Amino acid sequence: MKEWLRTLPKAELHLHIEGTLEPELMFELAARNGIRLAWQSVEALRAAYDFDSLQSFLDLYYRGMSVLCTQQDFFELAMAYFERAHDDGVVHVELSFDPQPHLERGVTLQTILAGLESACDEARRRFDISSALIMSFLRDRPAQEAMAVLEQAAPWYDRLAAVGLDSAEVGNPPEKFTAVFERARALGLARIAHAGEEGPADYISGALDALDVCRIDHGVRCLEDEALVARLHSEQIPLTVCPLSNVYLKVFERLESHCLPALLDNGLCVTLNSDDPAYFGGGMLANFMACHEAFGWDEDAFRELSRNALEAAFIDDQRRERLL
Ligand code: HPA
Ligand code: ZN
Repeated sequence: MKEWLRTLPKAELHLHIEGTLEPELMFELAARNGIRLAWQSVEALRAAYDFDSLQSFLDLYYRGMSVLCTQQDFFELAMAYFERAHDDGVVHVELSFDPQPHLERGVTLQTILAGLESACDEARRRFDISSALIMSFLRDRPAQEAMAVLEQAAPWYDRLAAVGLDSAEVGNPPEKFTAVFERARALGLARIAHAGEEGPADYISGALDALDVCRIDHGVRCLEDEALVARLHSEQIPLTVCPLSNVYLKVFERLESHCLPALLDNGLCVTLNSDDPAYFGGGMLANFMACHEAFGWDEDAFRELSRNALEAAFIDDQRRERLL
């Protein structure tokens, strides 16, 4: 099954590029940029990957990404990810990036985007992997800051597939960002948002109503609201579910108790993704294999999940047809 799953053409729609930073590269970049890390070694860092919540992960995630300084750093980060994704049989990737923590350290949007874009170009040439960029706002920071970042990104609007919303969910409902997403809509940018990972089902409805999003990242808590499930079903809103991430962050205790089978039983448009593969036990193939082992899904089930992702992707129709 693993080899069959590897050859299945897969699209990854929920991927934080900063969450692909493996400890070895983190230490290499820290040394190159003269940055002192809080951990003594790669092993000590890996031992710290013991999360009990989204926040405990985010604390480490933001500390880790502080080694990214130059265009070359962002290029190497993304290329290392693309090489692993290619080995996993991924043919299309939508990379989210979090500008705010980088801008705060004096790293410019130009540095981030030039590095990521050149990696996307090389991935297309070397691996025939297509890609799209999603600029995410941190929901635990002020909405005015997100608005300023959106304005600052003007030179790149035509190269952003969408804007997104991530970071600490509980206490930061989508409505906080209504004006920012309204502005993104006026600029012609597509919108997506994390919702219903740790936050309640209300945040999923809120993201649909207040932010007018076309996809929901995670969305696993939708099952707590029957009317919402009916809506997600009738509108076939794609959910970018991240099985291993949900287990690592204790959204579900074990994969066997994950709600994925129930989401499918309800006829929802589910996709499988890796979220932050360096931190959550592996990339797309590891997530697909874990689901095969936990749920006993067969080839037809995975074909449908992959088709859902390609249909929900920000990709031109010609390429979509070719990959489907
Ligand atoms: N949830 C919210 N924010 C994030 C995540 C996540 O899983 N990964 C990186 N930023
Ligand atoms: Zn995420």
